[in-house]
Amino acid sequence: MKQPDLYEGLLDALYAIFGRHAGLRVTHAKGIVAHGSFTASPAAARLSRAAHLQGARVPLTLRFSNFSGVPSTADGDPGAGPQGLALRFLLDDGRHTDIVAHSYDGFPVATPEQFLGFLQGLAGAGGERPDPLPLDAFLARHPRAQRYLEAPKPAPASYLAQAYFGVNTVRLLDAAGAAVHGRYRIEPLEAPIAPSPAALPGTDFLGAELGERLRRAPARLRLVLQCAAPGDELDDGSLAWPRSGPDARPEIELGILSVETVEVDGQVQAARQQALAFNPGQLIDGIEASGDPMLAARAELYRRAALRRRPVQA
Ligand code: HEM
Repeated sequence: MKQPDLYEGLLDALYAIFGRHAGLRVTHAKGIVAHGSFTASPAAARLSRAAHLQGARVPLTLRFSNFSGVPSTADGDPGAGPQGLALRFLLDDGRHTDIVAHSYDGFPVATPEQFLGFLQGLAGAGGERPDPLPLDAFLARHPRAQRYLEAPKPAPASYLAQAYFGVNTVRLLDAAGAAVHGRYRIEPLEAPIAPSPAALPGTDFLGAELGERLRRAPARLRLVLQCAAPGDELDDGSLAWPRSGPDARPEIELGILSVETVEVDGQVQAARQQALAFNPGQLIDGIEASGDPMLAARAELYRRAALRRRPVQA
């Protein structure tokens, strides 16, 4: 197996930062599961032969979450962001394919090795005997990581009031095998959304707001592919591509997501949520990973992370 120490090291570093919270994800520990559907645009079918992009309505499972690995982190806490959105497209034949995105356009670093250095710095700086030096030295060499830490991450008024970015480049293949490279973005169709009247600035207001909003009406989001321009680095998700101005990359709307219901609180929904294991490496024919080393690492990491947090069977 490839680079076992790197993967285990990344998981160890995340546990060192957030601690263990039985059965919960080591990051994005607090979340809420929703259900709905996805309908691809004609442009998506032209771009990719993938089963869920052919235009038929596809059932969808979604999980909205906060970045923190500590489930009690309040939604308004600066450490709660970026927020996450994981999507699972449920195919007719029982298979599925996933997208795992977050609300920051970019990432602190470009490679899993650099991410390990970043996390180890964070863990040391916040540990029992804090030592900020390794983190300071890391940030001096990686200005995008510094920018990520400094970027304000205010809590949104609603999980449905902001965009989510896939960050790592994927390759879409059409029926003849022609390829287009791009990055996913998921954004509200009817923006900006006013906060729901039920939204209270409590610890868990984002989940409550989502439930309240969907009880009134389904919400719609669009899935967009931001296409790479010639010369773009396809293997560096830390660098956002321009979305406006003369260098804005071409974009293609891949389809519309309809978010319809949320799973209500309780032990059954908690168990079902923990049993779900999204994986950005879960791809199907018509969509491939680019050469981005982060994507390859995430495919293996999320698989191992789900095994580590699985409750011990009696
Ligand atoms: C090397 C880089 C990364 C590492 C080591 C990493 C690690 C992890 C781990 C261990 C989990 C928990 C998985 C589970 O237990 O099911 C997770 C979840 C998650 N990650 Fe990452 N991640 C990385 C990059 C990213 C990027 C680039 C994004 C955004 C595009 C992202 C967004 C998320 C989200 C939204 C979740 C929660 C998924 C869910 O709802 O189940 N991560 N990550």
